[in-house]
Amino acid sequence: MKSLLVLFFAYLLGSLPTAYVVARYKGFDIRRRGSGNIGTTNAFRTMGTGPGLLVLAVDVLKGVIPVLVGRAVGGNWLAGFAGLVAMAGHSWSVFLSFQGGRGVATAAGVLLALAPGALFWAFLIWLIVLFTTRYVSLSSIVAAGSAPFLVLLLRLPWSHFVFALVAAALIIYRHRPNIKRLLAGTEPKIGERG
Ligand code: G3P
Repeated sequence: MKSLLVLFFAYLLGSLPTAYVVARYKGFDIRRRGSGNIGTTNAFRTMGTGPGLLVLAVDVLKGVIPVLVGRAVGGNWLAGFAGLVAMAGHSWSVFLSFQGGRGVATAAGVLLALAPGALFWAFLIWLIVLFTTRYVSLSSIVAAGSAPFLVLLLRLPWSHFVFALVAAALIIYRHRPNIKRLLAGTEPKIGERG
């Protein structure tokens, strides 16, 4: 019962559509600007650094808090599962008719609380791909895809590996529109779409 409550809380917290709320406060619907994505990258793109950092911080916390609560209540497996449910809430928000973001910032929050070493290397990979290609989406896809291997290399618990594997699949699945644009050569590089 306690575990179910933790998962319910994780879903509700993950569902908070931070980028949507901040953009509404600024007077527009973020679903109709930039990439139309309800996430940190589009918040930076459409609103600039201050609001972008605010969205980043809250979306990361949406991953950190469920993991801390899940770990306290039920250990590593519940922590990882709560993190996945928070990501699902972010991607299919109950407050936005099950629309949502790609889940990258929230996944980073989950990894921060679960396996900071893996997050460090994944972030480094994200930066390298971003600096070499200037595609944020490709950087997110490659970094997410590398996370399960990093967890294995760092010899972390199996529960962390399962989280990283499912999170990577979820993130890649949510990047379908970006993947189509990348293959068609129409995905904007960083700074190209306002
Ligand atoms: O973290 C999301 C990023 O990888 C892509 O965002 O807005 O360019 O679709 P966006």
